[in-house]
Amino acid sequence: QESIVPGELGDPTLDPVQVPEPGAVTIVVPTFNESANVRRLLHQITESVPARLPCEVVFVDDSTDDTPDVVREAARDCPFPVTVLHREEAVGGLGGAVVEGIRAASSDWVVVMDGDCQHPPSLVPELVATGERANAGLVVASRYIKGGSRAGLAGSYRVAVSRGATWLTKALFPRRLHGISDPMSGFFAIRRGAVTADALKPLGYKILLELAVRSRPRTVTEVPFVFQDRFAGESKSSAQEGMRFLRHLAGLRTRSPLARMVVFGLIGLTGFVPNLVALSALTEAGLHYLPAEIVANQFGVAWNFLLIERLLFRERRRHRHWADRTARFALLANADLVLRLPLIALLVGRFGMAALPATALALVITFVLRFVGTEALVYLP
Ligand code: GDD
Ligand code: MN
Repeated sequence: QESIVPGELGDPTLDPVQVPEPGAVTIVVPTFNESANVRRLLHQITESVPARLPCEVVFVDDSTDDTPDVVREAARDCPFPVTVLHREEAVGGLGGAVVEGIRAASSDWVVVMDGDCQHPPSLVPELVATGERANAGLVVASRYIKGGSRAGLAGSYRVAVSRGATWLTKALFPRRLHGISDPMSGFFAIRRGAVTADALKPLGYKILLELAVRSRPRTVTEVPFVFQDRFAGESKSSAQEGMRFLRHLAGLRTRSPLARMVVFGLIGLTGFVPNLVALSALTEAGLHYLPAEIVANQFGVAWNFLLIERLLFRERRRHRHWADRTARFALLANADLVLRLPLIALLVGRFGMAALPATALALVITFVLRFVGTEALVYLP
């Protein structure tokens, strides 16, 4: 975060701390190597925004090309303040950049839009006006309501990926995303007061999703828009960005301990597969089934450990050395197995339970203990 170069104004004759009047908008544009697009974008904004709504533009740039210089040059012709925040380290990617931009914004309303001219700036005043009228905290420019379209989403492959991702996301957050037809949109207006910047953990492209789930603006409305073709260059999205999106979803979905326990359990269930495969291979090789069980269990444990490290406690790994985490995790997982039999004996002998419900109850008890133990002893300092 220290690596941010303080905002530089495009036109040195403008006062750098000039604050737009109330009823103004700060347009935040994340850029990564968009030198061929930013001039046109600023021109489009100049044509369609300031006459209807006072504005300032904040570029948050992670480029390795000369985008910042091109912006500063083009800003000379703009009748509004233009700031470029260039980051040396692209913390959080696109989403991290947008949060930096929102922090730097001085208006009540912030509109976030892409730097490649896929989002029409002529819609900016309408997004803000709709938010004011509906007394909303968030106004989403949507491709998926009447009047909108995803014309610029090039190729059936990208359309399919976008559809699948939208469907999955809505299925995972049915309540938080209620009323948002296009949670993947990168074009939206948000009231600065509705953004809980410190509670955000942006990770990659889906910053609207992050805001909708973690900041939870009160009223949300939508305005249709037509997703244009990219003006120049190519999308910066990649397979790596896709993986980042899945991690982002996992992080958002496991905010509460209960949700984490459910995911912990689901991962545990998948561990039966390597466990049983190893068991059959070992007994096939002539090992007695008891030592085979013990060894095979370690395969399940290792599988679970890898998934849990990657999906569930990714951010908490730094508290301990990996060897320390591995040892603690393995110990807990095996203690679970060793504890279960005496626990069943206790439930049957002391409490007179039948063997089957006693086994089921023991499974639940040791599972919860293992989850709590894993949280507290492996992933907390
Ligand atoms: N600062 C910064 N850092 N900006 C970035 C980064 C980054 O790491 N990665 C991308 N950007 C900028 C790009 O320069 C561009 O201005 C904007 O973010 C969008 O990036 P694109 O690479 O053009 O994204 P896209 O067209 O594939 O995806 C857009 O549409 C999707 C909907 O189909 C984005 O708006 C997505 O958020 C949206 O889901
Ligand atoms: Mn784009």
